[in-house]
Amino acid sequence: MPQNIYDDPDFFEGYSQFRRSREGLAGAAEWPVMQTMLPPMQGIRVLDLGCGFGAFARWAREMGAASVLGLDLSEKMIARAQELTSDPGVTYRVANIEKIDLPDDSFELVYSSLALHYIEDFGAICAAVRRLLVAGGRFVFSVEHPIYTAPSNPGWQDDPSGIKVWPVNSYLVEGRRVTDWIRPGVVKQHRTIASYVNNLLDHGFRLLRLEEWGPTPAQITEHPDWATEVHRPPFLLIGGMKDE
Ligand SMILES: C[S@@+](CC[C@H](N)C(=O)[O-])C[C@H]1O[C@@H](n2cnc3c(N)ncnc32)[C@H](O)[C@@H]1O
Repeated sequence: MPQNIYDDPDFFEGYSQFRRSREGLAGAAEWPVMQTMLPPMQGIRVLDLGCGFGAFARWAREMGAASVLGLDLSEKMIARAQELTSDPGVTYRVANIEKIDLPDDSFELVYSSLALHYIEDFGAICAAVRRLLVAGGRFVFSVEHPIYTAPSNPGWQDDPSGIKVWPVNSYLVEGRRVTDWIRPGVVKQHRTIASYVNNLLDHGFRLLRLEEWGPTPAQITEHPDWATEVHRPPFLLIGGMKDE
């Protein structure tokens, strides 16, 4: 059974304070890059795995998507998404994305932002997404970067040469990591970049794009606190297409 930390009242309160929670996609640093990896939204059926407050679902509909289904384990996240959305073309459902019960070939796009590093079996997700997508459909997702999920006790160190160093421990040891993030005891799943890519390829996807997101100089000027992110990319972004 997954942890469902987002329904913990203190965690939910802390997460709600984040810029991306308050401002939606405009507050998501990696969104400008993620957006370039998406297909045209006009008329397509979209599934959002781990939809959170539903910002992507609302954007997809504004861009012309025929329908969006957002799934999330957390009742609190889904309740907030429903409060923020008044669009009959968007449906939110409390669901564990490890057990998706939806018909085959029913979406042109499966999207997921920063949810799949909570999932133990990424291969099972790839198999499910392949089944749900029509031929040529896209699977576009972001996760916490494996450099970030690898260490169980992360922290910056100063290298003698003056650059910031992020110690990476046990990179090749995949699996559960218990971290202090918003509150102690948050469980995430670490896997390597090779695992993300090879699972995708092994499940009949073509790799279209892989990005290790870091801030642009313009973003650093606007948000000086993002400067450290150039030393350790926080997000991995991947776009795939279901082979015909
Ligand atoms: C960091 S939030 C991202 C929310 C949203 N996608 C965004 O980018 O703003 C991760 C979300 O994944 C959800 N999640 C984690 N494990 C899940 C699971 N097994 N099934 C469904 N949702 C899950 C959490 O409840 C949370 O809402």
